[in-house]
Amino acid sequence: MVVIHGKRELDDFLQPHRLKGINVGFVPTMGALHAGHASLLRQARTESKLVVLSIFVNPTQFNDSSDYSNYPSTIEPDLELARSEGVDVVFLPEVKNIYGDSAHAETSDYGSLTRVFEGEKRTGHFDGVVTVVRRLFNIVQPQMAFFGEKDLQQLAVIRHLARLEFPSIRIVGCPLIRDADGLALSSRNVRIPKEGRVHALKLHEALLNVAQAADTQNSIGSAVEANRKALSENEHIQLEYFDAVNGESFEVLKGNEVPKGAFAIVAAVVSGVRLIDNCRL
Ligand code: PAF
Repeated sequence: MVVIHGKRELDDFLQPHRLKGINVGFVPTMGALHAGHASLLRQARTESKLVVLSIFVNPTQFNDSSDYSNYPSTIEPDLELARSEGVDVVFLPEVKNIYGDSAHAETSDYGSLTRVFEGEKRTGHFDGVVTVVRRLFNIVQPQMAFFGEKDLQQLAVIRHLARLEFPSIRIVGCPLIRDADGLALSSRNVRIPKEGRVHALKLHEALLNVAQAADTQNSIGSAVEANRKALSENEHIQLEYFDAVNGESFEVLKGNEVPKGAFAIVAAVVSGVRLIDNCRL
């Protein structure tokens, strides 16, 4: 496994592989790797000849500067995990390698997809994500790129970016991974205090209730309403949204129809940590 910091060095390394037509699979991350990232790397390892992992905490996608400064950094264990998952190249750039002297995001307006839910609650977040992913795709030039369904709206936004600007890159969505108790894995989970976990688990329980209503063809609208109400009345949870949506367009489901590709989604702050989760319906 090689660790590369500069864009030019990475290009020098990758160019001979590109000329030989070697299939490059790319897993972009912000580090603090956990079992969810490991599953992305495993899938990339199975589907591609050369696996490139990037670790870059992208400053332009944080709408809250304290979230950026508190974002966990665990480089040594990350490199250990990358090695154990058979990664070939770790790209570890600094902010100036990606942004030069001024780290700012380009605006990406994909209609309501970039304006609702995460787009509404985290102003500018998707501009930052699209900017960095666009830059990373141009640097790495992969054939495939792997993203977790945990960040479901991000995945839809990146699929949209790829359709518009990188039609030759196949975007692979990989299943969300949970801890044994059901909490969706996230790099931010390390910041949840022990006593907050029981409240964090309520988010998953509420999603499961909606999935169960969908399975039993019960009124999905009332299941969403009832669970949204219960979460918003829980004094330990600051609910931001709870809804059932089309997982590509993020339009809210209407009536009691549950089309293919529908998800229940939630975002809330629990014990000072912002969590998002989702469940396929
Ligand atoms: O999902 C993430 O870790 C980040 O948003 C990504 C896609 C690596 C862009 O910084």
